[in-house]
Amino acid sequence: MSAPDIGPRERALVSEVMSGGHLSMGPMLERFEAGIAAASGRKFAIGVSSGTAGLHVGVRALDLTSGDRVVTTAFSFVSSANCLLYEGAVPVFADIDPITYNVDPSSVEDVGKGAVALLPVDVFGQPCDFTRLEPIAERNGWRVIEDSCEAIGGAHAERPAGSLGDLAVFAFYPNKQMTTGEGGAVVTDDPKLAALARSLRNQGRGEGGDWLTHVRLGYNYRLDELSAAVGVAQLERLDELIAERADVARRYSAALAAIDGVTVPRVAKETTRMSWFVYVVLLDRGVDRDAVAAKLAARMVPTRPYFRPIHLQPYYRKRFGDLSGSLPVTEDVGRRALALPFHGRLSDESIGYVTEALREAVGG
Ligand SMILES: Cc1ncc(COP(=O)(O)O)c(C=O)c1O
Repeated sequence: MSAPDIGPRERALVSEVMSGGHLSMGPMLERFEAGIAAASGRKFAIGVSSGTAGLHVGVRALDLTSGDRVVTTAFSFVSSANCLLYEGAVPVFADIDPITYNVDPSSVEDVGKGAVALLPVDVFGQPCDFTRLEPIAERNGWRVIEDSCEAIGGAHAERPAGSLGDLAVFAFYPNKQMTTGEGGAVVTDDPKLAALARSLRNQGRGEGGDWLTHVRLGYNYRLDELSAAVGVAQLERLDELIAERADVARRYSAALAAIDGVTVPRVAKETTRMSWFVYVVLLDRGVDRDAVAAKLAARMVPTRPYFRPIHLQPYYRKRFGDLSGSLPVTEDVGRRALALPFHGRLSDESIGYVTEALREAVGG
């Protein structure tokens, strides 16, 4: 489905770490954090061991706790809601926009009564609607965590992904635009939140740095130096990595445009920079997605039904009951979306092969 782009610079920086004395909490992490802060236009970045860890740190740092209602989206990877459950907070799902698949601001207002925070997700690399969500959050006095795990390098109305709200979180799993292996980062402009996030990721140690004094409940969510080294090298060519992916997406869309029954991904005009994470087509209603996926698999083309909505996941059904039917757009897109193989070095030949296989599979 995806392939990381690892080059000589990544190898050289990892080797530099191996030859030095620091394998954790060293200079490479500092370099990485400075780069992430710059990429997101934020004052502070805190490297963590995964996007999920970063979201959990964010939830703890904002003190979202038992019974707190937090408006978010069910059209996401499960950890954007799980991070709330870790602390007993309650995800309240708003429906999504049918074009961007990001949370629909009108629905956010509709379901937001009694909420204390907003956790929007930048789905598939397209930043959510900062312009409309920000005033809604302000008016309601909500704290905001932007889950930008899929969107580093993107921009909404010229504002970088990760610049919305009290804090934002990135993820660097190998299928992402840039990777650290496992890894993530929390970004914020608030020095107090930054200090808190640093403490939470490092076993609740205080700012004084005493290794055996723990001033709060914390975690081992540190990002090691080897991972940070890969991240530093990837950040140096983030623009190039994003441009390559954009080019593949453009070629895919040109090739797939003529297939009946398939809608190519759409980018809102306010998205001034799309940071393509995955390439997800929408099949027409009435097309059997499972059958299409099976036909593609038979031709060695892997696909994923991105996303299976969170409120319909077995664990969520068990915990919150049957909420099917409550989010019509989320559920409709959840039934019809199909992610195709995608990374920045996909050749024209591969795109052509996938296109023909998909054309045959949908009978278009
Ligand atoms: C929207 C979203 N949130 C959170 C995460 C979690 O990131 P990680 O896998 O690094 O824990 C992901 C990762 O795929 C994601 O796509």
